[in-house]
Amino acid sequence: MKGQIMQGDIAKVLLSEEQIQQRIKELGEQLSKDYANCDGEVILICILKGAVVFFADLARAMNMHMQMEFMGISSYGNEQKTSGIVRITKDIDTSITDKHVIIAEDIMDSGLTLSHLVKLLSSRSPASLKICCLLDKPSRRECDITPDYCGFIIPNEFVVGYGLDYLGFYRNLPFVGVLKSSVYTEDFSTPTNGR
Ligand code: PRP
Repeated sequence: MKGQIMQGDIAKVLLSEEQIQQRIKELGEQLSKDYANCDGEVILICILKGAVVFFADLARAMNMHMQMEFMGISSYGNEQKTSGIVRITKDIDTSITDKHVIIAEDIMDSGLTLSHLVKLLSSRSPASLKICCLLDKPSRRECDITPDYCGFIIPNEFVVGYGLDYLGFYRNLPFVGVLKSSVYTEDFSTPTNGR
C-alpha cells in the first residue's frame, strides 16, 4: 500500500462518481416524496464510519426539515467474520420516540449488523424505522433483512471507496472500486469485512 498513488490500488471502478451521485439524487427525491407528510419529524442516522460520505450526500439530496444524528458501532466480534454483536461506541444524542427514523448505511453484507441495530432502535419506540443503504450484497446475507431503500445491488467483491475502507484507508475515494488483491496479500492481512 505504502508509496503508491491511492487510485493505483484499484483493480476496477465498480460505480463511478457520476453513477453514485445520480442514484443518490433519485433516492433523495424518493425519500422526500415518501416522507412529505412527516416534515420536521424525520431523523436521519449515520452509522459511523462507513456511511459518512453517503450520509452527507443523501441528506443534501433530501428536501425537508430533518435532524441528522450519528451512531458509532463496532459490528465485528472477531477479525474473520461478522458476529452480529453490535457494540455502541457512540450513541445518538436525541430521543427517537415518535420520530420517523431512517438509518443511512454504506453497505449491507451479512445483514447481522443492521438486524441488531433495527432491534435496538425499535425498542426506543420510533414512529417508523427504515433502512437506506447505498450498497447491498444479498449473496452474503445470513439473516432475513432487506433494505427499504437501496442504491445498488453489487456482486461479492472486495470494494472500497465512497466511505468503505480497507484498514481504514480508501474511504475518501469519490467512487466505489474493487481493491487489487495484491494490496491485501502484500500487507499480509486478510480482509476482515468480506469486501
Ligand atoms: C460495515 C458496514 C456495516 C457492516 C455491514 O461496517 O458499514 O455497518 O459492515 O456488515 P454486515 O451486513 O455483514 O453486518 P464496518 O464494521 O466495516 O465499520 P465501518 O463502517 O467503520 O467501516
